[in-house]
Amino acid sequence: MNKMTLKDFDYNGKKVLVRCDFNVPMKDGVITDDQRIVASIPTIKYLLDQNCAIILMSHLGRPKGVSNPKFSLEAVSKRLSELLNQEVEFLDDDQVVSDDVKAKVKELKPGQIALLQNTRFRAEETKCGEEFSKDLASLADFYVNDAFGTSHRAHASNVGVSGYLPSALGLLVQKEVDIMGKAIKDPERPFVAILGGAKVSDKIGVIENLLNLVDKIIIVGAMANTFLKAQGKNLGKSLVEDDKLDIAKDLLDKAKAKNIEILLPKDLVVAKEMENDAESKTVSVDEIESDYMALDIGNKTLDAIENALKDAKTVVWNGPAGVFEMDNFNKGTFGIAKFLANLDAITIIGGGDSAAAVEKAGLKDKITHVSTGGGASLELLEGKELPGIKAIKDK
Ligand code: 3PG
Repeated sequence: MNKMTLKDFDYNGKKVLVRCDFNVPMKDGVITDDQRIVASIPTIKYLLDQNCAIILMSHLGRPKGVSNPKFSLEAVSKRLSELLNQEVEFLDDDQVVSDDVKAKVKELKPGQIALLQNTRFRAEETKCGEEFSKDLASLADFYVNDAFGTSHRAHASNVGVSGYLPSALGLLVQKEVDIMGKAIKDPERPFVAILGGAKVSDKIGVIENLLNLVDKIIIVGAMANTFLKAQGKNLGKSLVEDDKLDIAKDLLDKAKAKNIEILLPKDLVVAKEMENDAESKTVSVDEIESDYMALDIGNKTLDAIENALKDAKTVVWNGPAGVFEMDNFNKGTFGIAKFLANLDAITIIGGGDSAAAVEKAGLKDKITHVSTGGGASLELLEGKELPGIKAIKDK
């Protein structure tokens, strides 16, 4: 990548505005997974060593352009203070940037850190509004984009602002793009992709693009149901996108024409209700009764996946194999996580639910790279240029 990077500027004595992706899951005001906050620390620490003042910003959730305490970044400022072992001043303001905020930022000294309120409290944010972009830029001398998870959006705080300040990519964005970029452009082979999750519709572009890159695709999760039905199987009450059956069939035909193996489930764990304590059983994909639904992959499928992965040198995984939030339907997802953890290969988890599953299984450290971006990493796999990265000038 030939973009301006963090180390290309001299920040001594200056103010630096850093866009992070602190869009973390919260329950009752408590952060339930801080991986994205932890991932922002290297860039912040690098800047602290450069003797500059740091103004952090992010969105959280989708508050739709109005302030809403439910989406406040206050809990994030506390977690950041703990992780950095120094105060991160929370500039709580419904306007995000107001005269009061500007005055407080002016007072920041090198080595001090502040966090703005949720950028999506301003309606102009998601419209990449010029005034808001300029307002944000007025706070600092430099802008650093370290929000990989937001790179597929073209908003004021990640794209607009870069038009008004000398700008660079942060260490996290660089790492994400380097690792995923290499896997896509120049992978060690065999290269296997595992795709799961609920919807085929979210991943059509990804599958189309991967058919030009990978040696094998393993499809699991509810999206596999649509492929199985397209092959004529009866899926009972399982989640199926009936309006995507033609697309699924077309993708299977394309894979065949390109000689790319698509591995679909052979057996499934089924139940009558989507409830953890619902009575369940494992059946072949040819034997699903009409009042049952698929909630996980079965052992035969896991064996087939293990076999398909054994020689792999690069594996990319995005999307769970079942309803892994429920203990009785998490074996497939955790099983895949274990296979990846034990493989002698470059293993990449494309954010979102699969990243949460690997963390929950305690296997994160055994994976080469767990992306902080769900949607962003999918768009990279789709071969798209991400606006947040494109906006930063080439060297
Ligand atoms: C994400 O979690 O994928 C990013 O933070 C982007 O959030 P968004 O889908 O609400 O734009």
